[in-house]
Amino acid sequence: MKNRFMYLCVAAVIGASSLIVAPAAFAGAADWLGVASSPGGVADADLKAAREDYAVNCATCHGRNGDGKGELSDSLSVPPRDHTDAKYMGARTDEQLFKAIRDGGAAVGKAEDMPPHSAVMNDAAIRRMVKYLRRLCDCGK
Ligand code: HEC
Repeated sequence: MKNRFMYLCVAAVIGASSLIVAPAAFAGAADWLGVASSPGGVADADLKAAREDYAVNCATCHGRNGDGKGELSDSLSVPPRDHTDAKYMGARTDEQLFKAIRDGGAAVGKAEDMPPHSAVMNDAAIRRMVKYLRRLCDCGK
């Protein structure tokens, strides 16, 4: 009788914890991708690829989360843009962002400290990066 009670207790604990753990694990995976849902028709795969490009090509200056506080930010003559700043980013068009990324800051009347990326990212990669930036600033146009 005692054994049976133990068994029930263990089963109850396992049952309850799986209810808690399962949604948490799911939320964790979605957070890791950073693209749990995609309103506006942007494919999750595109955003994930852009996020990886961002980590490799942009984060040293703009910061991993896009807040403008990358390791190199202090050594530049102008601070890298804060891509989470909805007010500033919302005032820039997709074309301006695209051109700044592909051809560098000087091409859009900004500092040369923002380097061109045409050698490391093709046009499709830059286009999906613009969509990713719109996510960071939450200021989609
Ligand atoms: C070497 C440092 C550095 C790297 C690497 C870099 N940036 Fe920048 N970026 C800057 C600086 C500095 C500015 C600010 C220029 C200004 O305001 O005059 C800037 C500005 C920008 C802007 C704002 C342009 C505008 O219209 O005002 C965008 C968008 C941008 N960067 C995107 C990116 C993306 C995307 C990447 C990666 C593909 C990247 N940057 C990589 C330094 C960098």
